[in-house]
Amino acid sequence: MQRIFISETVQQVGQEVLVKGWVHSRRDHGKIIFIDLRDKTGLLQVVFTPEQAAAHQLASQLRPEFVISIKGKVKNRPEKLINDKMLTGTVEMEALELEILNEAQTPPFEIDKDTSKVSEEIRLKYRYLDLRSERMNNNMVMRSRVVKFFRDYLETKNFLEIETPILTKGTPEGAREFIVPARLWPGMFYVLPQSPQQFKQLLMVAGAERYFQIARCFRDEDQRGDRQAEFTQLDMEMSFIEPEDILQLVEGMMIEMIQKLYPQKKIQQIPFPRLSYAEAMEKYNSDKPDLRKDKNDPSELAFCWVVDMPMFKQSVSEKKLVASHHPFTMPNKEDMDKYPDEPLKWRAYAYDLALNGFEIGGGSIRIHRREIQQKIFELLNLKEEEIKRRFGHMLAAFEYGAPPHGGIAPGIDRIMAILQNEPNIREVIVFPKTGDNKDLMMDAPNLIGQKALDETHIKLADDVEIKEAEFDTSVAD
Ligand code: AMO
Repeated sequence: MQRIFISETVQQVGQEVLVKGWVHSRRDHGKIIFIDLRDKTGLLQVVFTPEQAAAHQLASQLRPEFVISIKGKVKNRPEKLINDKMLTGTVEMEALELEILNEAQTPPFEIDKDTSKVSEEIRLKYRYLDLRSERMNNNMVMRSRVVKFFRDYLETKNFLEIETPILTKGTPEGAREFIVPARLWPGMFYVLPQSPQQFKQLLMVAGAERYFQIARCFRDEDQRGDRQAEFTQLDMEMSFIEPEDILQLVEGMMIEMIQKLYPQKKIQQIPFPRLSYAEAMEKYNSDKPDLRKDKNDPSELAFCWVVDMPMFKQSVSEKKLVASHHPFTMPNKEDMDKYPDEPLKWRAYAYDLALNGFEIGGGSIRIHRREIQQKIFELLNLKEEEIKRRFGHMLAAFEYGAPPHGGIAPGIDRIMAILQNEPNIREVIVFPKTGDNKDLMMDAPNLIGQKALDETHIKLADDVEIKEAEFDTSVAD
């Protein structure tokens, strides 16, 4: 007999079916044993009676999280026992046969309750158990649906989904980068991308015209509630467009996604309000203002665009000019005409999307002409030799018919945290890292064996203390 999902049992009243999953809870009522069986689709009440002696006898050994297989008959529940809160609340199963597929130790926390109050350290160590809980499972399911929606939507708008490299060269987007030693090139390193920025622009030069990617990005920065060292963007780029085209596309996509997947939510204002950066700072003293009317209403969604972002800012630590968004952003033509005067006052064709006080996306129209890009690099105080070494490929590409282009990258983790009413993005990432960048389940980062160090030509500094207990030689074997 083929196993069916629990959600399908409601259509099988009167039939004998096979279900498999985990024991969510067990209640013994005298001689009758009730089990709530759980699979990825929900819960089903199963009843074991003494008439089915073998199954009943085995059921008395069941404990939470045992993995079981049950053959049984689906029955309608008597009217007064119908449970509206349960997906399968109109039915229950009368067990005929039971098989225990695997036993389970008592979990370190209760999975049938909301785990958000449990110590996060324990939840992260046993993440595979935490993810079994209803709230976390729902976060996983909704994230999958949202990403699928974006994919389908962009496909109807003629976008191609294209993967770009993870082992690459540095991208100047403001954060510290993760580096990977290149075994075949002693002393050299790959850099993990902060975003696919340069590749997506080069794809526009390549004629792709409309690109998107569910892109993993890496930034070695301090973790906060809305930041992770690796996170995911819905990265997009288009050729022959104005800022308006991108704003319209993203706005339309967000509205349709929410109406379809979160019909209970209210979008405060459509079309999304637009503020210039200067206005946002003046009125709200924030470049990601929270425009909700009632901040305690979890169904309220207040989007807003912040446009005309500044082209440059002064780096506090180094007292030099740095790009506000990134150096590939096109300056506003009126301001650019003042070159090289007052760059701190220049506006860029750059825009951010804010939602409930968080920046959920940022993008810009890009420079596609070599001489403008060269000027911007000069303003950023890059020496000719450095420009050539770091960005020679971009400047060369701009000389072979680069089309005007631009894009944006909404952050999927932040969007999901807000939509799922979670307090931080770790709740919507299946295997996130802690504030100090550790994966408590995998125990990463970890030390690697001497062989791997030798092969990658790495010698640890004398003051690095190696704790043998944590030594992991698997990389070298
Ligand atoms: P930006 O750096 O603004 O732009 O990033 C775009 C969006 O990515 C999300 N984000 C993060 N989410 C979680 N953890 C982080 N550490 C983190 N950093 C950023 C945010 C942010 O709005 N290449 C450009 C995009 C472009 O110009 O098209 C870029 O990466 O939601």
